[in-house]
Parts: sequence; C-alpha cells; structure tokens
Amino acid sequence: MPRIPGISVVRSSIHGYGVVATRAFAPGDVIAEVDGILWRAEEGQDDRYSLWVDGDVYMDMVDQTRWINHSCKPNSEIEAELDGNGGAWARVVAIEPIADGEELTYDYAFPWQLAEPCACGAPTCRGFIVDADELGMLKRR
Ligand SMILES: C[S@@+](CC[C@H](N)C(=O)[O-])C[C@H]1O[C@@H](n2cnc3c(N)ncnc32)[C@H](O)[C@@H]1O
Ligand SMILES: [Zn+2]
Repeated sequence: MPRIPGISVVRSSIHGYGVVATRAFAPGDVIAEVDGILWRAEEGQDDRYSLWVDGDVYMDMVDQTRWINHSCKPNSEIEAELDGNGGAWARVVAIEPIADGEELTYDYAFPWQLAEPCACGAPTCRGFIVDADELGMLKRR
C-alpha cells in the first residue's frame, strides 16, 4: 500500500490502530484524498471500514485513512461526493489546527441502529459513536 505523506498508522489509545499526523495541518488543509472501492447497500459488504457517500453508495477505504478513529470532538472531517460518472471521491480535511504527532479523528455520526460505545476521551464524549442528532433516539431504546 503506498504511503500517504503527512500521516502514519500507529497503535491508538482510542481503539486498535489509529492514524497520526506526521506534520502540522491547519483548518481547511486536505490531509488525504481517500483511495477506496465503491459498493451499494444491496451488496451487503462489511461496512466497518467504509464511508457513506450518498444514497445507497458507500466507499470501502483501502489506504491508511481506513484506520482513522472516531471522536465526538474531531479534528478533521470527511468530504465525499458522487462524481457524476459512476464514481465518487472522498477526502479527509482538517477542521482544527493539528499538531505533528496528534491522532486524526472524525465524527463517524453513525445512525443509532449502528451505535457502538465510544472511547474517544473527549470531555464532551457522547458515550456512543452515534450521530449527535440521534443520541436521544438511542437512549430511548
Ligand atoms: C474504521 S475502524 C477504525 C480503526 C480501528 N481502530 C482498527 O484498529 O481497526 C472503525 C471501528 O473502530 C472502532 N472505533 C473507532 N473509533 C472508536 C472510538 N472512539 N471508540 C471506540 N471504538 C472506536 C469501532 O469498533 C469502529 O467500528
Ligand atoms: Zn466519544
């Protein structure tokens, strides 16, 4: 797998493997263009390392970005879109200043049905990896 400059896969204090920055990033910087394979919901692929792109289209991340963990107070976000030619693109973009060595995170915003316990450690941790707008729904279940 070709290495993406500026990031590295490490053991994470949040969960399993994670990804750290190997240089500083400023808000708005594109940290990585995601290399991935598209699949549709009806194919029933393993969604653990996949991004939702649009509608029933998902992208299985096949580069180092697949190991970026979730945080309820993330320092990056995913931008993803269909390209209009049957493909799609996705990238990881900094939303906070990120220091060399800092773990990269984004908000997975899982639907409540897919929620998992969260270990991000943020003071504002929701307790679950779940869309902030669906936390109430999860707690009522
Ligand atoms: C794409 S993987 C991320 C890489 C993962 N750490 C690994 O080593 O394979 C997504 C899975 O990692 C785990 N994970 C990611 N962020 C987490 C967090 N904040 N708290 C607990 N588990 C987390 C969850 O099981 C989630 O479904
Ligand atoms: Zn959390």
